[in-house]
Order: sequence, then structure tokens, then C-alpha cells
Amino acid sequence: MLFVNVCVILGLFTPVYGYKILGLFPHKGKSHYDTYEPLMKALVAKGHHVTVMSHFPQKKPLKNLTDIDIRTGDYLVNVINLEDITGSRLQRYLMPPFLAYVGYGTCSEGLSHANFKNLTNSGHRFDVILTEFFNTECFLNDLNRYQAPIIGISSCTIMPWDDFTVGVPSNPAYIPNSFMPFSDTMTFLERFENTISYIFCLGVFEFLIDIPGRIVASGYFSNSLPNLKKMAANISLMLVNNHFSFTFPRPLPPNYIEVGGIHVGKLNEPPMVS
Ligand SMILES: *[C@@H]1O[C@H](CO)[C@@H](O)[C@H](O)[C@H]1NC(C)=O
Ligand SMILES: *[C@@H]1O[C@H](CO)[C@@H](O)[C@H](O)[C@H]1NC(C)=O
Ligand SMILES: *[C@@H]1O[C@H](CO)[C@@H](O)[C@H](O)[C@H]1NC(C)=O
Repeated sequence: MLFVNVCVILGLFTPVYGYKILGLFPHKGKSHYDTYEPLMKALVAKGHHVTVMSHFPQKKPLKNLTDIDIRTGDYLVNVINLEDITGSRLQRYLMPPFLAYVGYGTCSEGLSHANFKNLTNSGHRFDVILTEFFNTECFLNDLNRYQAPIIGISSCTIMPWDDFTVGVPSNPAYIPNSFMPFSDTMTFLERFENTISYIFCLGVFEFLIDIPGRIVASGYFSNSLPNLKKMAANISLMLVNNHFSFTFPRPLPPNYIEVGGIHVGKLNEPPMVS
């Protein structure tokens, strides 16, 4: 009884501290931010202090949520027709270089934005950082300055090049490349093309995402280019807005967590059927 009393009394005096959380979502696509925004707001509701750097600041300021606006003018809304991803073979192969091109813009505009530089130079501390993993990793060099654990988040299935980031086994013999229309049981020719397209994606990452990203992150051609891949592999967790019931079975390490539907709010009661 005494023990319970002591616990109750100690409990009354335990201070509750919220974490200081930074969310960096530099991609201009509104549909991507729609996945992250409810999570950021939920963290505020849990008592944390959240700073979000994005192109989509709150229209009405929220308490304990600080928006840092890194807009440069234009948005990406309705630019990608989903039929282009599920369209012809050529379109499927053009999509990774197109994403790399968009990522390069995100990278150079974001890193040179006055508000981004201001936060980096402000000496702010954060307990944990959440950031999107999609088509560029060039922000990791600056995020590393906070010396806080970094959590990756993806609004769709992770890109083939991020398999290595989280250590997901990705054998193209039975794991279809998400840019290809294959299932987990492929014919010999499909496995062959799946392998070619996988190698193609890794090449796009190497030459059109990683190397340009390192050059921009170094402040343009300094002597030492940051090793972004090593920084990416150092993340603590990857949250992926995917669900195994939509894709094919594949082995996943415990640091890869499927959070499919994380952005879906409370559902209304279904109408009564009489
Ligand atoms: C904001 O944070 C303060 C201090 O941590 C807390 O007392 C307050 O309840 C929070 N407000 C909201 C709306 O979460
Ligand atoms: C830069 O950040 C400081 C606080 O750290 C703020 O007072 C100042 O207004 C910011 N400047 C710009 C240009 O955003
Ligand atoms: C790895 O992450 C930790 C924080 O979790 C950080 O202190 C360290 O500098 C990072 N190392 C590299 C090589 O990025």
C-alpha cells in the first residue's frame, strides 16, 4: 500500500516534457505533404513542439506548431498523371529520371532558401527530425548538424534506391520494381526486365540523384563532397505509407514500418442500412 501511495505521489509531480520535433518536407508536391501534415498535427496534440519546414504552411497558425515557409513560387499540384506511371514502357522508364530532375530542383531551391539557411544558422536544437525520403537526400548533410536521430518517412512505397538505405532485401527475381507492372511471380523474361529496370533505377540514383545532390549539399564544388548515402543509412527508422495488402510479400527489417493510411482521419459512422 505504501509503495502504491509513493508511486501515485511521485506520479503527480512527474513533469511532462514534450519533444522538440523538426519536420522537413522540401518536396513541392501537395499530395505528399497531405500524408505528413496529419502526423505533424497529431504530434502537436500529444504535447510536442513541432517545427515544420515545407511549402504548405498552416492557413491559420496553430499553437506549438511553427511553420517555416520555403516556398519559391510554384507548387506541384496535378502535374503527374497517374496514367503516366502506369502507362507505356517508355513512360515507366522516363519516370525515375523525371523524379531525379524534380529532386534536383527541390534540393537547390530548398538549400538556398533564406528561411532554410536561417534555421540552420539559428542554433536551434531538436530532439528528433522527421524528413521525407523520395527523390533527393541532399538535405541530410545540413540535418546532421542538429545531431538528433532522423526518421525517414515516405508518402508512397519507398523508391528502389532506398532499399539500401534501410537494408531491405530487394532481390529482383521475386520483388517487382515499383515502376514496373510485374507481380511476385514473374516469367523468365519479366524477371530479366525487372532486373534491368532495377539496375537502371540504381544508376539513376547514383548519377542523377546522389552525385548532383552531394555537389549541391557541399555548397557547389567544395573539396569534400558529403557522403549522403552514409548519412541516409544512419537514419533510425523509416515510416512508409504502404500496406502489405496492396503490394506483394517481401521481407522487411524491423526499422521499416508500414504505416499505410496514417493520414486518414476518424471515419464518420456509416449510414444505417434499413
Ligand atoms: C503548447 O505547449 C505548452 C507547453 O509545453 C503546453 O502547456 C500547451 O498545452 C500546448 N498547447 C497545445 C494547444 O498543445
Ligand atoms: C531568422 O531567425 C531569427 C530567429 O532565429 C528571426 O528572428 C529572424 O526574423 C529570421 N530572419 C528571417 C529572414 O527569416
Ligand atoms: C548518425 O546519427 C547520429 C544521431 O542519431 C549522429 O549523432 C551521428 O553524427 C550520425 N552519423 C553519421 C555518420 O551521419
